[in-house]
Amino acid sequence: MNAKKTVRAGIVGAGFAAAFHFEAIKKVHGANVEVQGVYALDRAEEYGRERGIPVMPSLAALIEKCDVLHVCTTAQSHEEVAVAALKAGKFAIVEKPLTGYFGDGSPDFHGDRFPKTVAMEHCLASIERILAAEKASKGRLLYAENWVYAPSIQKEREILTKTGAQILWIHGEESHSGSHAKTYAYWKFSGGGVMIGKGCHPLTAALYLKATEGKVRTGKPIRPAKVCGHTHAITRLPGFRNEGHIRCDYFDIDDFSLMHVVFEDGTVADIFASDIVLGGIHNWIEVAANNHRTFCNINPNSAMQTYNPAEANFKDIYVVEKIGTKQGWSNPSPDEDWMTGYPQEIEAFYRTVAYGAPVESDSGLAANAISTIYSAYVSAERGGAEVAVKTF
Ligand SMILES: NC(=O)c1ccc[n+]([C@@H]2O[C@H](COP(=O)([O-])OP(=O)(O)OC[C@H]3O[C@@H](n4cnc5c(N)ncnc54)[C@H](O)[C@@H]3O)[C@@H](O)[C@H]2O)c1
Repeated sequence: MNAKKTVRAGIVGAGFAAAFHFEAIKKVHGANVEVQGVYALDRAEEYGRERGIPVMPSLAALIEKCDVLHVCTTAQSHEEVAVAALKAGKFAIVEKPLTGYFGDGSPDFHGDRFPKTVAMEHCLASIERILAAEKASKGRLLYAENWVYAPSIQKEREILTKTGAQILWIHGEESHSGSHAKTYAYWKFSGGGVMIGKGCHPLTAALYLKATEGKVRTGKPIRPAKVCGHTHAITRLPGFRNEGHIRCDYFDIDDFSLMHVVFEDGTVADIFASDIVLGGIHNWIEVAANNHRTFCNINPNSAMQTYNPAEANFKDIYVVEKIGTKQGWSNPSPDEDWMTGYPQEIEAFYRTVAYGAPVESDSGLAANAISTIYSAYVSAERGGAEVAVKTF
């Protein structure tokens, strides 16, 4: 067996995503990973101390020491950080969403009060800058969309590939009772609300599967052509009755969304995303094809079903993301990260960095996902009228 290559990694950001990236790095087995340090605007000291890695004084200092940078910052800085890594000839693993529009910088910027065509134009320009930086770089952009690498989505890819299936309709959803990150409540940090924050996951899986279908049968990906969108801010309704189970402090973002995507071949996908659903995270996608039908139950799934008669019994036991109570029946996830695709995506990316392995979730997929979402925001502003999607 050939000796494993060593890859030097850096982490940017020190929040939730940076934590699960680090856990996934620890499981990489195809290469030796040496984490050089962390750089973040806040929480870096604590993050570095807990993991025994140095805190770097600047982004540039971290980039210099690395072959690959994990961009785990809030979305408004993805372009800046990823482009800095690419310009230095390094790889950038970029968390979702790739980029977006984060306002005009004015103190009274509000997500409800600006034309969404402006958002789309800025977002498309940002995509172009990122793709140009990648083209000119020795490195590559690796898009950390874990749904692409979730084992159930990869099993569906195998079914598609081996049976030459035609997908007629995909529907899917990511929902729960509200994101933990404080910054999530503001368009200026997140680039939108739940349609981008959660909708990007099932949407990207749908785009990936349709692209795969096309490549298998004709050598050409089947891309999104147009989209209708609807968004709502249910927890900001004056009549919303807060009983304490659903996060409801959003400043200017949507908490419910629907995208109806029409692909180049006329087939369709319906993608729901919301922050108003109790009972634990709800991540699934259903594929209705001409020769099979599949449910990918990312979370919950029935790998385990447990009945617990008393809440206190499970006080030290993690059950599943965002579950409100551990009493009664639940579906504990025996390995939630694995079901979600986190270790698989990081393993795949290190194989690309070390050995040039092909990338399933690349910058083109990332660009098409974000372009579809901003077209859907334009559509929502127009009451759900169809809007063309620019693809890359
Ligand atoms: N794939 C998933 O399942 C998943 C889950 C949660 C979050 N995310 C994504 O991960 C990213 C981070 O989300 P989070 O929940 O960890 O946020 P967070 O608020 O918990 O942490 C963000 C971190 O980024 C740092 N940061 C922000 N701008 C920076 C900059 N310019 N330079 C250096 N550091 C900067 C902050 O200081 C903070 O440490 C977001 O893009 C989010 O959409 C993905």
